[in-house]
Amino acid sequence: MNLRRLFTKEKQERRILRQIERTGDRLQPEYHRPTPECPHPERWRMFDSMTAEAEVLEFLRTVVTTIKPELVVETGTFSGISTLWIAEGLKANGRGRVITCEFDREVYENAKARIQASGLAEWIELRNESSLDMKVEGTIDLFFSDSDMPIREREIRRFLPQINPYGLILMHDASSHLKIVREAALKLEQDGLISAVLLPTPRGLVVAQKREGRK
Ligand SMILES: C[S@@+](CC[C@H](N)C(=O)[O-])C[C@H]1O[C@@H](n2cnc3c(N)ncnc32)[C@H](O)[C@@H]1O
Repeated sequence: MNLRRLFTKEKQERRILRQIERTGDRLQPEYHRPTPECPHPERWRMFDSMTAEAEVLEFLRTVVTTIKPELVVETGTFSGISTLWIAEGLKANGRGRVITCEFDREVYENAKARIQASGLAEWIELRNESSLDMKVEGTIDLFFSDSDMPIREREIRRFLPQINPYGLILMHDASSHLKIVREAALKLEQDGLISAVLLPTPRGLVVAQKREGRK
């Protein structure tokens, strides 16, 4: 990532965090632009443009209660809202844990405070490191890729050997407008590594499964 891009992105994340500090978590209609696959984004709701759509958060919780993962890995914590929805699912299951990483120190500290105040901290391991450096022990039953868009393909390739072939891979921001994550998922599919379904949400969500080892 070049410095200009890094600077612009950090500014955007910190600006949104300051806004959350001022207003609290407020649901509003989704305002990402319509796409052919999702022509009415305003029918969805969102807290802010970084946090996954409210319906995707609900989906995350339901996926966790449906497949009952022992280990969830999330890349890109931001303010910790998606992590908390995953943790809600783990709590309902009564087992499992989520490891989530956020590489920006200031953003990480903010998420840490939210998680500590949530009553769900026992289900969460929050790390201040990059997904491309993070080491995780064991088999990953649910992998939620939600960090910087250009590195998603590298993330999936990096963690794929550890992903349970009976588990799930979710890649957020895979709309045809945002493009890069969608193309990464289709490339991984073409390379025979995953099977992917493209869910038509405003920002797009790939639901995928590893091909190797699947019976
Ligand atoms: C889209 S936001 C995550 C939103 C969050 N998952 C949610 O829905 O509530 C992306 C976050 O990933 C972080 N990030 C970007 N690249 C990263 C990397 N390589 N490792 C860890 N975090 C990263 C950014 O600082 C940002 O806070």
